[in-house]
Amino acid sequence: MSTAAKGLEGVVAAETEMSFIDGEKGVLEYVGIAIDPLARHSTFEETVFLLWNKRLPKADELAAFSKDLRSNYGLSKETKRLIALMPTSAQPMHVLRTIVSSLALDDPDPNSTDRSAVQAKGLRILAQAPAIVAAFDRHRRGLEIIEPDSSLSFAANFLWLLNGEKPTDTMERAFDACMILHADHGLNASTFACRVIISTLSDIYSAITGAIGALRGPLHGGANEGVMVALNEVGSVGEVEDFVMGKLKRKERIMGFGHRVYKAYDPRATYLKTLAKQLAEDTGNAELYEKSSRVEQIMEREVAAKGIYPNVDFYSATTYHSIGLKLDLFTPMFALSRIAGWTGHALEQLDANRLIRPKADYVGPHDKPYVSMDKR
Ligand code: ACO
Repeated sequence: MSTAAKGLEGVVAAETEMSFIDGEKGVLEYVGIAIDPLARHSTFEETVFLLWNKRLPKADELAAFSKDLRSNYGLSKETKRLIALMPTSAQPMHVLRTIVSSLALDDPDPNSTDRSAVQAKGLRILAQAPAIVAAFDRHRRGLEIIEPDSSLSFAANFLWLLNGEKPTDTMERAFDACMILHADHGLNASTFACRVIISTLSDIYSAITGAIGALRGPLHGGANEGVMVALNEVGSVGEVEDFVMGKLKRKERIMGFGHRVYKAYDPRATYLKTLAKQLAEDTGNAELYEKSSRVEQIMEREVAAKGIYPNVDFYSATTYHSIGLKLDLFTPMFALSRIAGWTGHALEQLDANRLIRPKADYVGPHDKPYVSMDKR
């Protein structure tokens, strides 16, 4: 009988000082600070500094960090050419994975595992990822690529690159909060993939490329798109009851609810719900928010006793839709933010590296003869 823990559930495979999760109480902290005040009062740039340096920055440190990040926003001529070569039918997550991988090609020292070099490369990948997603989206819409604006925050710059318009304050704030909420989350599948790759002393480009591949799966970062698909299936607020009850009777999942770790309200969803409401009202999507809210009420009545509550994906969907993002850009948004967490974990792994190399229980036969081809 194999002793393997299926899905490595319950296995502790690393130490981290970045995020702490208590799933029973619904707690998530970054470096000891609860996620809710961070989402309300911090910025994504400050949060990245916090995750990488394990402390909040002073004003001049944040200014220097932001300047460094923003000076890396622009894509090289070669990267823009490569994006222009992508088939317009390609899926944005595949494009992001491909182009992030290609960023190693013009790095004169791509393989360095020196701490400051890895952090600088992670910063460059983080800074350019929004431009990659936006440039590909414009390419497939037949529009010119827009140059980044280094006077803008990470969040505002992305929306500028995508739409060619400066976002409203509410939109920038909501998008920035989404970036904060998705930045890190313990040893999830993509973060583990990142740590495995960097533990071989491979390069940060490979580690983040692999992590993007892991994030894409519908059991991981792909769920936020599923929420929107479901909300689109419901014609009106009045139809929500039948929709949800029908799914529950058929034992189908309601996307955006439940979590392997949280058995209480996902602490990332609390503030996001407020933002989603405000943004939906501002952008003429009030009915979408009403539908979401009705789904939550019915789920509360029916399944909260089982520990099933909205997760971060549920109100991300309303938020991203209200911002005007196409459905297949929802998962790339998760990736843009999580590059911060992946880079932080790569740095932690390198700080105390040991090759990650678990074992497999062999459950096949032994002592079988080699049978020559003519006798098989
Ligand atoms: N809708 C309806 N019922 C649900 C849901 C849901 N979303 N999630 C769990 N349940 C029910 C199950 O049917 C099961 O009921 P039962 O005991 O009567 O059979 C019970 O809750 C426990 O479910 P498990 O599958 O054992 O819980 P697990 O921890 O394995 O699942 C998961 C977690 C995969 C996230 C699940 O809740 C799910 O599929 N949710 C929908 C997809 C989703 O939103 N994923 C995003 C997660 S957050 C993130 O990745 C950022």
